[in-house]
Amino acid sequence: KQRVLSGVQPTGNLHLGNYLGAIRNWVEGQSQYDNFFCVVDLHAITVPHNPKTLAADTLNIAALYLACGIDLEHSTIFVQSHVSAHSELAWLLNCITPLNWLQDMIQFKEKAVKQGQNVGVGLLDYPVLMAADILLYNADKVPVGEDQKQHIELTRDIVDRFNHQFGQGQVVLKSPDPLILAAGARVMSLTDGTKKMSKSDPSDLSRINLLDPPDLIQTKIKKCKTDPVKGLIFGDPARPECNNLLTLYQLMSGQTKEAVAAECAEMGWGQFKPLLTETAIAHLKPIQDKYHEIINDQGYLESVLRDGKEKAAAIANQTLLKTKQALGFSLSL
Ligand code: TYM
Repeated sequence: KQRVLSGVQPTGNLHLGNYLGAIRNWVEGQSQYDNFFCVVDLHAITVPHNPKTLAADTLNIAALYLACGIDLEHSTIFVQSHVSAHSELAWLLNCITPLNWLQDMIQFKEKAVKQGQNVGVGLLDYPVLMAADILLYNADKVPVGEDQKQHIELTRDIVDRFNHQFGQGQVVLKSPDPLILAAGARVMSLTDGTKKMSKSDPSDLSRINLLDPPDLIQTKIKKCKTDPVKGLIFGDPARPECNNLLTLYQLMSGQTKEAVAAECAEMGWGQFKPLLTETAIAHLKPIQDKYHEIINDQGYLESVLRDGKEKAAAIANQTLLKTKQALGFSLSL
C-alpha cells in the first residue's frame, strides 16, 4: 500500500475548511492507504501561542481526528513533538535548504506581515519542518487543502537537492505528491468570499467550527455575506460567496454539484440559508457526539497516542538514520 501522511496544527478549533479541504479526504481515502495523521504541535509554536492550552488543544485535535472518522485499523494518529526525529530531520534539511526558497513562500510572507517585528526564525523555517514530517514516513501522498500545495512543492525540491547532493545515485528521501480535492480545497470565509476560511481570522463569524453548537451555526449562516441576486449558481467570479455557500451545501449534503445546481437555480437566500443551516447542523452532529464521547475518555485517547508514537517513531527513526548516514555522520558509537 502507498503511504499517506498529513497533519493539522493545534491552534484553536478546527473549522469547515480544515474538515472539507483535508480531513474528509483523509477519511475517504484511508482504506486504500497506510496512513499517518499527525497533530503538528511543533508548528503551532511558530506564532505566539499559549503554553497553558497547547497540551489540551493537541488532545482535542486528536479526538477530532477520531470523531471525523479516522479509523485506527488503517491509520496511525500521533503527536509530532512525541517523535523527536521530526525536529532532528528538520535541522538536517535546514542545512541544505537555500534561504531564499523559504523567503519566497506565500504563507510565510502573509503571516510575517501579520507578525510585524516579531517574526521568529521558526515561522520562516516552518516548511522545512513540514518537509521533515512528510519525508520521515516516505509518504507517497499528502492530502491537504490548496493553501499547502506550495509547501509540498518545496518538499519535492528539497528531496531532489538532497538526493542529488548526497544520494550517490540512490533515492534516500522519497518525493511526495499532494492530494488535493476538486471541491472543498479552498473553503472561503463566511464574511468575505474572496478570503479563505482561517483559524487566524479575528472574527469567529467568518468560520464554522466543527464544535459550534446548532444555534451558533444558525447565527453564523444568518449573518454570512451574500448578494442581492436571486437564483444561486456555481462559478460566477462576481459572486464568490454564492459559489462558496453552494459548495458547502454540496459537500455536507453529499449531493453532486449538478444536483445542487438544479435544486438551487431558482432559489433566493431566504430559502437557501435555512437549508444550509439544517444541513450543516445535521452533518456535524455525529462528529460532535463522537468527539464528546472520546474527549471524556482521556485514558483511551492517551493510549491511542502512545501506540501512535511507537509506530511512528519506529519508521521515522529509520529514515533519520538513513539520512544521517548519507550525510556522513559518525554513527558507530
Ligand atoms: P493547517 O493546520 O493550517 O490546516 C490543516 C489542513 O486544513 C487545510 N485548510 C483548508 N482547506 C480548505 N479550505 C480552507 N479554508 C482551509 N484552511 C486550512 C490545510 O490546507 C491543511 O491541509 N502546514 C500545515 C500542517 C502540516 C502538514 C504537515 C500538512 C504540518 N506538517 C505535513 C501535511 C503534511 C498547516 O499549517 O495546516
